[in-house]
Amino acid sequence: AATSSHKADKGLKDYYRKYFPIGVAVNAAAINGPEAELIAKEFNSVTPENDMKMGPIHPRENEYNWKNADAIVAFAQEHHMKIRGHNLLWHAQAPVWMFKDSTGKQISKDVLLKRLKDHITIVVNHFKGKIYAWDVVNEAIDDKPDNYLRNSLWYQICGEDFIAKAFEYAHEADPEAQLFYNDYNSEVPSKRDKICKLLRNLKDAGVPVTGVGLQGHWKLNDPSLQQITEAMDKYAALGLKLQITELDVTVRTGPPRKAGDQTLTDSAYTETMAAQQTERYKAIFEIFRKYKKVITGVTFWNVSDRYSWLDFRGGGIAGGAAATGGTSRKVIKAYPLLFDE
Ligand code: G3I
Repeated sequence: AATSSHKADKGLKDYYRKYFPIGVAVNAAAINGPEAELIAKEFNSVTPENDMKMGPIHPRENEYNWKNADAIVAFAQEHHMKIRGHNLLWHAQAPVWMFKDSTGKQISKDVLLKRLKDHITIVVNHFKGKIYAWDVVNEAIDDKPDNYLRNSLWYQICGEDFIAKAFEYAHEADPEAQLFYNDYNSEVPSKRDKICKLLRNLKDAGVPVTGVGLQGHWKLNDPSLQQITEAMDKYAALGLKLQITELDVTVRTGPPRKAGDQTLTDSAYTETMAAQQTERYKAIFEIFRKYKKVITGVTFWNVSDRYSWLDFRGGGIAGGAAATGGTSRKVIKAYPLLFDE
């Protein structure tokens, strides 16, 4: 909210010049909609929320779909914003064809790595000189404490190798780009230690990794501030840079949502929620400022609550309001972002 000390022409990014870029994830709807001005005013970095992922950008083997991604890049350039690329490899939103041959049979490791190399080379080259940092590998670590890597198709077909290879291909395509490993729950000690193990192994093997992306899909009290600082210390001790890549703070309380569950009631954004969320954002940004030597960017996972992936819509998780276009289905709002409520 505007206060008397808040200058109309200054945005968040200006208050944070001495620290790090303040970024925002966007979709094509947001940069073409009423939020465009707000985005340009408050933020100086942009991440496409979905449009550079493998499925959307490379839907068929010989077909790339640059339209939305190029529009976001053009918007960012027009407004002198930095651009993070998200992402080159993920188990989700990967196109089905990637793992199969023309008869529908699963392909071999050699073929998959060749396809991965082609994909990364072409995508990174397309945006070369425009994108300063890439999330190269997204969410490859398993959440279950006993397992190390996620049992994805990448892992099933290639074993552990795909991770190092992805970084090598990206570095070959653009030696200037900063390359990140990006994950959620990266503050949970058991997962944090596995991420550290992976990154230490990559560094020891001479793989070009710049840093680790902490997604930052957080709640009011979870993770604790102590878990956040401990994780940052551990990652920094490996000589890695840190970016908070997908920050949002859910204020919704009550039982966790389940697909199809219509029993949860929506609640308005109350004064109490606003105060709690303000306190939480304040506390985490105090930490971020303390770590300004290692933190090279903080990005919110969209501009306004209206677009948040966290809103629950009856029958499934939203995937952003853009996916459902202001649905008539039941919506349970998470109110995680800076704008709207
Ligand atoms: O674009 C299609 C549209 O053509 C189709 O009609 C519609 C039908 O549901 O789907 C649209 O795609 C949706 C897309 O968002 C764009 O709105 C997908 O279904 C939906 O699954 C997708 O959700 C995205 C999700 O990643 C995919 O798992 C969210 O917007 C996006 O915020 C979320 O972002 C991820 C990060 O990339 C990685 N970290 C976790 C984070 C939250 O899940």
